[in-house]
Amino acid sequence: MKTLLTGGAGYIGSHTAVAMLDAGHDVAVADNYYNSSPEAIRRVEEITGRKVSLYEADVADRSRMMEILRAEMPDCIIHFAGLKAVGESVAMPVEYYRNNIDTTLTLLECMKELGLTNIVFSSSATVYGEDNIPPFTENMPKGVCTNPYGWTKWMQEQILRDAWFAGAGSEKELSVVLLRYFNPVGAHESGLIGEDPQGIPNNLMPYISQVAVGRRDHLTVFGDDYDTPDGTCRRDYIHVMDLAEGHVRAAEYSLGNRGTEVFNLGTGNPYSVLDMVNAFGKACGHPVKYEIGPRRAGDVQDSWANADKAKEVLGWEAKRGIDEICRDAWKWQSGNPQGYGE
Ligand code: NAD
Ligand code: UD1
Repeated sequence: MKTLLTGGAGYIGSHTAVAMLDAGHDVAVADNYYNSSPEAIRRVEEITGRKVSLYEADVADRSRMMEILRAEMPDCIIHFAGLKAVGESVAMPVEYYRNNIDTTLTLLECMKELGLTNIVFSSSATVYGEDNIPPFTENMPKGVCTNPYGWTKWMQEQILRDAWFAGAGSEKELSVVLLRYFNPVGAHESGLIGEDPQGIPNNLMPYISQVAVGRRDHLTVFGDDYDTPDGTCRRDYIHVMDLAEGHVRAAEYSLGNRGTEVFNLGTGNPYSVLDMVNAFGKACGHPVKYEIGPRRAGDVQDSWANADKAKEVLGWEAKRGIDEICRDAWKWQSGNPQGYGE
């Protein structure tokens, strides 16, 4: 299968490129390097011993995307490109709506013009909102999002579903696969690629990794007064290579099917903030220093997946646990203390 990964030089895209190439598929990448570096793709080629067709492109640029898609004519597009920082989206909502929605609309227009039918989309568990009770199942109603980033995912899901509906039953009916990620963490086991956040990390695992490697003094745990066994929030942390393999199965599934399908990509197992701090301490060989701070605005207490549908329909389930997550995150962080910047 020929795949085009928009945003493929980013964290999840680069790991998915490895999994796709390892599964014998061809990979092209279109990325504007807003939050990534072509070095990630060079390392994907080093890991797999295979070539990637790499295009520097803004996915919202229609004529550029027409040129790339015409050259590649992929069997499936996996749409990762987007802005993803929750706090930044509150400060820059217009940029978030513009970039995330425009890239999706542009792809749909190009697909229609070229007769391409298959798209897999990076959505998020954030669309379940604050009121659903975990474990989240795909048929729960979507919730109210707490920030513009979340709303862009919510809206992109709707746009893709509407685009499919318009052509349902026709020869050009789309195959839309919406993947709702839980908390992607960890790195490829080689330690050659991993998450490389710019500036101060917003997310837990990159923050813990940077404390462990000495780049930051301590982690602040956002609240220990939740109604959970140790008082800290619980999440469904999924190894990024499990997530990547989920994309391979989703893209393969899309080839034989038409319609819109939603899948949770999670493990189904919740872990608390302190569980992750302790597991990381074991992996890196010394305790990770932390202090308890106030709750973070917008945090939900609990979020985890019911992952049964992906297992039943895609034949996929997460295989790696938190010890592998921390081992691989540490290998990446300790081997590349400044990320790709070195
Ligand atoms: P990332 O920032 O590492 O990757 C996104 C990539 O898209 C980057 O390489 C960036 O340069 C590129 N990009 C952004 N706008 C672009 C544009 N207009 N044209 C071309 N390239 C563009 O983020 P990630 O963690 O790999 O996330 C990938 C996707 O998964 C995103 O859509 C994100 O919202 C979604 N997602 C991520 C998480 C997570 O925790 N990482 C969770 C749920 C969903
Ligand atoms: C956050 C986003 C979510 C997005 C996801 C991407 C919010 C409210 N939600 O999810 O929309 O899809 O990132 O990965 O921002 N924590 C600390 N200290 C820290 C950082 C985090 O205690 O320095 C805690 C948080 O309170 C949370 C857990 O660690 O309980 C995980 O946080 P994080 O990695 O930011 O992910 P989410 O909040 O689940």
